[in-house]
Amino acid sequence: MERTLILIKPNAIQRGIMGDIITRFERKGLKFAGIKMMFMTDTIVNEHYAHLKERPFFPYLKASMQAGPIIACCVEGAEAVETVRLLVGATNSRKALPGTIRGDFSMSGEQNVVHASDSVENALIEIGRFFAPEELYDYESAVTRFEYGGEESQKFM
Ligand code: PPS
Repeated sequence: MERTLILIKPNAIQRGIMGDIITRFERKGLKFAGIKMMFMTDTIVNEHYAHLKERPFFPYLKASMQAGPIIACCVEGAEAVETVRLLVGATNSRKALPGTIRGDFSMSGEQNVVHASDSVENALIEIGRFFAPEELYDYESAVTRFEYGGEESQKFM
């Protein structure tokens, strides 16, 4: 099964909507393999957003990610990277469709409540950045056979 990384950003924790956000992923049928609260250090922010460090908004983005703790989540499911990106919605929350997490919970491109990996390759790197192997759990889900069809089980599991 594919895994991806989600960060619930400090603004979502401050606003008291982390439970609503986690629920969206659970209700979809994504399985949590790891979850933890932490502060993003300078090192980890600089590494995570290295591709944006020349952008004029980088200092604002960095400050927003260090305004409080984040919650890092590793979730798994069939085509989890793409599925999570669709659930999360467009980066600029004002353009994110209603029904998506950003579309329903945010008005901002910076304070946009969640980060989600944008490719399978980046998901592997980002999961490794936030989780040690022993912090990720393999366990049986009792409901997988009611969440996926037989053909999908053959293909994705
Ligand atoms: S890009 O390169 O402009 O396409 O970047 P994008 O993929 O849209 O966004 C990457 C992350 O940058 C954050 N962002 C901003 N932060 C502060 N101010 C402004 N103006 C801004 N624009 C984009 C955005 O929240 C994305 O963060 P993540 O954590 O990846 O969602």
